[in-house]
Amino acid sequence: MPVKNRFAELLPEITAWRRDFHEHPELLYDVYRTAGRVAQLLREFGCDEVVEGVGRTGVVGVIKGRTDSQGRVVGLRADMDALPIIEQTGLDYASKTPGKMHACGHDGHTAMLLGAAKYLAETRNFDGTAVVIFQPAEEGGGGGDAMVKDGLVSRWNIQEFYGMHNMPGMPVGSFSIKPGPMMAAADQFDIIVTGKGGHAAKPHECIDTTLTAAQIIVALQSVVSRNVDPLKNAVISVCVVSTDSTAHNVIPQVVRLKGTARSLDPGVRDQLEEGIARIATNVAAAMGASAQVDYQRGYPVTMNDEQATEWAAEVARDIAGDVNLSMQPMMGGEDFSYMLNERQGAYIFVGNGDTAMVHHPAYNFNDDAIPAGSSWYAGMVEARMPAA
Ligand code: NI
Repeated sequence: MPVKNRFAELLPEITAWRRDFHEHPELLYDVYRTAGRVAQLLREFGCDEVVEGVGRTGVVGVIKGRTDSQGRVVGLRADMDALPIIEQTGLDYASKTPGKMHACGHDGHTAMLLGAAKYLAETRNFDGTAVVIFQPAEEGGGGGDAMVKDGLVSRWNIQEFYGMHNMPGMPVGSFSIKPGPMMAAADQFDIIVTGKGGHAAKPHECIDTTLTAAQIIVALQSVVSRNVDPLKNAVISVCVVSTDSTAHNVIPQVVRLKGTARSLDPGVRDQLEEGIARIATNVAAAMGASAQVDYQRGYPVTMNDEQATEWAAEVARDIAGDVNLSMQPMMGGEDFSYMLNERQGAYIFVGNGDTAMVHHPAYNFNDDAIPAGSSWYAGMVEARMPAA
């Protein structure tokens, strides 16, 4: 397995990049240091083109193969941003910025794709063009969408997209993938319940907003259990309940609810949006109150193309000997979905071993996964655009 051997050699260097990113986490679009370092390394590797500031702070590197007989272009994507979490790993390269932490392993994704870029620029053993894409703001800012809107696809004529995420609980360096939905559509909603505030000892002179909000919270679960096909998947979670009062004896005038709605299917997504509005407004009306519903669509479903999934699994199998094709989709969101909505492609999980879960303060990306991850990125280019 020549690809993998080279990455075993490059492991100390890639690990050093990864730990440097880990020590200097940046949030959302403010990934200036990370993006600057990525661009600098891509130039050192001898990429044919390095463009910064795509989708605000994204970086694109272009690597031409030894030949280009058919104008083929494959895009490989990694994310660069960290999370607003106080790190509790105790690592000697732990975050130097309190309250910011690489708790989702995007430091590892960026480093693995840099490793693949270095290898591809060295070997160029393919017929076409590899585009390495480093996006900002995966954790809620829609950086993938911003890069697409900034012309990512047309500017470099990208025909296929491949992305990867690490996954704790899977053996280190193993792979999991499935065709169809991999990650959920992640929407959010705000409900403002308005009644008539007043003295809590005189409820008959009020319209009780907290009781109305409680009825709405309970009734919303009937959308998932009673409206959505039981063989399909959906989640509605009400996560914030707040009022303008802090007193024990005041019925508040207004109660605000915030939550998230997840789905894997466009029809179910419509049902959630319609159902939340229907239940909130009508339950409120039944209680004599009113509800204002604001439903905001977030990241779309991360949908793996069937053919591209097979290609991705084939490369993973070459590296790891086996690939898990029977995984369940996950209800988390992922903004690589915006790229997959544009072109054929696939998103794969690489095992992070027995570590804390992503988004946990004790989580750390596992450097032992680097050879497998970098090999997969580079392998996708060589497999999809074999040398003439
Ligand atoms: Ni992540």
